Amino acid sequence: MNQLTSLSELTVADVKAILASARELKDRFLAGDRPPLLRGRVLTMIFEKPSLRTRNSFEAAITHLGGGSTFLSTKDAGLDGREALADVARVLGSYADALVLRTFSQKLIEEFARHAGCPVINGLSDERHPCQALTDAFTVQEVFGDIRGRKLVFVGDGNNVARSLSIAAAMLEFSFTLCGPRDYWLEESLLADLRAKHADADLVQTEDVPAAVCDADVIYTDVWASMGQESEADQRKNAFAPYQVNAALMAQAPIECRFMHDLPAKRGLEVTDEVLDGPQSLAFQQAENRMHLAKGLLAWLLR
Ligand code: CP
Ligand code: NVA
Repeated sequence: MNQLTSLSELTVADVKAILASARELKDRFLAGDRPPLLRGRVLTMIFEKPSLRTRNSFEAAITHLGGGSTFLSTKDAGLDGREALADVARVLGSYADALVLRTFSQKLIEEFARHAGCPVINGLSDERHPCQALTDAFTVQEVFGDIRGRKLVFVGDGNNVARSLSIAAAMLEFSFTLCGPRDYWLEESLLADLRAKHADADLVQTEDVPAAVCDADVIYTDVWASMGQESEADQRKNAFAPYQVNAALMAQAPIECRFMHDLPAKRGLEVTDEVLDGPQSLAFQQAENRMHLAKGLLAWLLR
């Protein structure tokens, strides 16, 4: 049984199979085909943080594939202390074919996965956002034809999204540069582990914007203060101000460079309207692709 608590749990072949499954299901969907591959299957989602894309893309995905979904807040699920986590996981896992969890704690998702008895998908934790990174790899492949050898520069915070993208980069052999203030870089231990596991991993961290973006295929950013970091918003706003993705920053990259953002965006902070709504932006294609990736993932996990 496969889990997706982090991309590191998958093999490169698994990742490629999920991307291929998503590609096939998106093509079929665009041709008007919604194959009932998961008829009668149940997906249960337990979310501790808000979500537009993750929740709704999984709900649409399982519905298109002939299954159904249920949704619980962590309080509804009794994870606020009403019941032991292992008991909740065991009970919900006996009703559902797969579970999606969105939590603060990565460990909570991993602990849940140990007891659920069915596939558990990480729908975002403070540490990881694997479904987003898979979707982003899918989107880059869709736009550029291939992802191998491309250069993605993540301008901003070394957060959950950046962490999962760095893992995807090592696995799919694209170059990943985190460009932002040193205090907000990714843990060197994560990059060292990835380099040890994937000999060709090209993972760089720098504070130097012009040097990072001058040969970028993709400039990616995300909010400066993630969910749960609201009290640090002012401090982060100051630290990240030189790293706003605006027209001047995009002008330092090649003309064909594209812009990506996982959304939700704080317009006027990490990205300006002119970039997010401009011709180089893939943000809304990424958001749409969350559903196709969710389908590909569910079909692969429950095959
Ligand atoms: N990108 C993403 O995960 O969006 P939501 O927080 O709206 O699910
Ligand atoms: N880094 C952001 C991603 C939201 C999808 C957060 O954790 O809030």
